[in-house]
Amino acid sequence: MAYTCYVFDAYGTLFDVHSAVARHAGKVGKNAARVSEIWRNKQLEYSWTRSSMGKYRDFWSLTEEALDFALASVPDTNKEARKALLDAYMALDCYSEVPGVLKTLKENGARTAILSNGSPDMLNSAVASAGLEDLLDEVFSVHPLMVFKTSPETYRMVTDYWKIERERVSFQSSNRWDIAGATAFGFDCAWVNRTGQPDEYTDLEPSRVLKDLTGLLKS
Ligand code: LAC
Repeated sequence: MAYTCYVFDAYGTLFDVHSAVARHAGKVGKNAARVSEIWRNKQLEYSWTRSSMGKYRDFWSLTEEALDFALASVPDTNKEARKALLDAYMALDCYSEVPGVLKTLKENGARTAILSNGSPDMLNSAVASAGLEDLLDEVFSVHPLMVFKTSPETYRMVTDYWKIERERVSFQSSNRWDIAGATAFGFDCAWVNRTGQPDEYTDLEPSRVLKDLTGLLKS
């Protein structure tokens, strides 16, 4: 393995954020996919605005508020689906390659961790429901810092805890903005471009672009 520490964003990288709505699409209504897109986009928007204005609110609260906005803004949705969707968000599907990749990395002596905006309860629930507890050495939630990614101090949680140089960390995220922040901090980044998005933040390029996490085992 090229690196000794592999750190992963959680939502969109290890866990499929759209699996919550997909699981209950019939209950949500015909515009379920639109609800899921707005839910995710608003959740992220709230994290960025609250970080920049210094008005932190935990990621679970932002997830609830974003869902309420999505259900209110998309026509013909069943608001009664709210509880089922939030319960599902606590137990999102992990992408199919995740357990095998984490297992192989650990078998080859690497340390593995999550670094996420998610609150501790959210992350512990997602990790447990996906059966990943034994495949992750640490789960870093930004919650104690009361600020979200891309603040540099969130990435610094990893290097401060493990007392290692930034360049020793391979950071993986499907979120290109998160890759920009981690690259700016000094991690060696792999952008997991699962949905074939065009590139952006071209002054803050990752060292690797992967279609999924199996690409980590080839480098
Ligand atoms: C996270 C979100 C931003 O896990 O994907 O931090």
